[in-house]
Amino acid sequence: MLLRCLNCRSEYSASAQIYLCPNCEGLLDVVYETDQFRGEELTDLWDRRRASPQAIDQSGVWRFRELLPEAGESEVVTMIEGNTQMLDAPRSAEYAGMNRLVFKHLGMNPTGSFKDLGMTTGITQARRMGAESVACASTGNTSASMAAYAARAGMRAFVFIPSGQISLGKLSQALDYGAVALQITGDFDDAMRLVREVANSSTLYLLNSVNPFRLEGQKTIAFEMLQQRKWRLPDRVVVPGGNLGNSSAIAKGFHELLECGVIGKMPKLTVVQAEGANPFYRLWLEYCDRKRAGQGTDDLKLAPVAGALTLATAIKIGSPVSWPKAIRGLEWSNGEVECVSEQEIADAKAIIGRDGIGCEPASAVTLAGIKKMVAAGSIDPDEEIIAILTGHVLKDPDYTVNYHEGTLSYNNKNGEKFVIDSKYANALVRVPASRDAILKAIE
Ligand code: F0G
Repeated sequence: MLLRCLNCRSEYSASAQIYLCPNCEGLLDVVYETDQFRGEELTDLWDRRRASPQAIDQSGVWRFRELLPEAGESEVVTMIEGNTQMLDAPRSAEYAGMNRLVFKHLGMNPTGSFKDLGMTTGITQARRMGAESVACASTGNTSASMAAYAARAGMRAFVFIPSGQISLGKLSQALDYGAVALQITGDFDDAMRLVREVANSSTLYLLNSVNPFRLEGQKTIAFEMLQQRKWRLPDRVVVPGGNLGNSSAIAKGFHELLECGVIGKMPKLTVVQAEGANPFYRLWLEYCDRKRAGQGTDDLKLAPVAGALTLATAIKIGSPVSWPKAIRGLEWSNGEVECVSEQEIADAKAIIGRDGIGCEPASAVTLAGIKKMVAAGSIDPDEEIIAILTGHVLKDPDYTVNYHEGTLSYNNKNGEKFVIDSKYANALVRVPASRDAILKAIE
């Protein structure tokens, strides 16, 4: 196991405390000697571990430890994350024009988002490196998760959050788990730049997804989803895109399974962004144009979106760090990128709710994107799709209540106010405290 630069291919020891390639500032990957494994032996071993009472076997991350950074059992900081539900969603399928649709609900993790999968490996690595303090910039979920895992490991946690732009559910978690919450005047992109600067000039261990050990945990989303399907591939996996760590990680997971012979090809990865925070969608259009014209794509660079705008605050990101890895994942999987409007996100979220599942706004871009792509003819209604719900419905109750009350609104870049048309509203029924009034109301 070692670290390798995605860009210049330089290799480094896995115990080097570096976040980017010291040679060219490229993103780093953790790489394994995958040719030492036989696919069936791996899956048999991983399947057997599901019956074990040991925490590291029960964890839906550490169960797959042959393909994870080395860590002794006593070093692993786990909250038995993973093991999240795959749920059939018939109303959502019908809404999107699909025959069937399955959600994998990563909001069912210990702190209510997929970040726990990356934080168990990230904090474990921090402990192995002897770190006493950890830090991250966050739109909320990373900070909630890091705060919890740091508390479990007895480390100090510093979270850099954009002022007034994260949901209260997430902020309350970071406070409750004892993190020092630094509210930065600025947006997520400012917080991200600052935490990187501070980590470079202090002993703070950086736990954003630029840290390759975080993504190692998140790649197990691919492993667990297949294990739950007896190692049978879906046609497509749809995932929200913000900082693009998760889509990169899931692609890496499938690619390693391919290298180990567990699967014979990769499912199509589809990344969905919000229209007001869609730098990766724009980059993808340019990438496709160049490919069509037979031109090279090596010198393509993501152009950040200044002042990213979406009510799905989790993905309100204009300058995503992991875009080169996300492009690689789309190349590996013959993938696609879509983007959706605020109205489409809000309606899709309400429909997911009607399936009795629920999710936070950023997760609902998946259903909105699938619907849009089915309508455009780029998704076949017979495809087997797994859509990733990234966060729990209780993370952002203000958004949900405002939608159902018809008061969900946002201001565009020119300050003009837009009210979401709550097509699937289920407004609160206000009644006087009388039996007759209640009987009338429930008639
Ligand atoms: N969905 C939710 C609920 C998220 O919290 C995030 C990212 C994403 C999707 C996008 O994932 O960044 O890997 O592309 N949240 C980060 C945070 C940025 O700070 O909690 P991504």
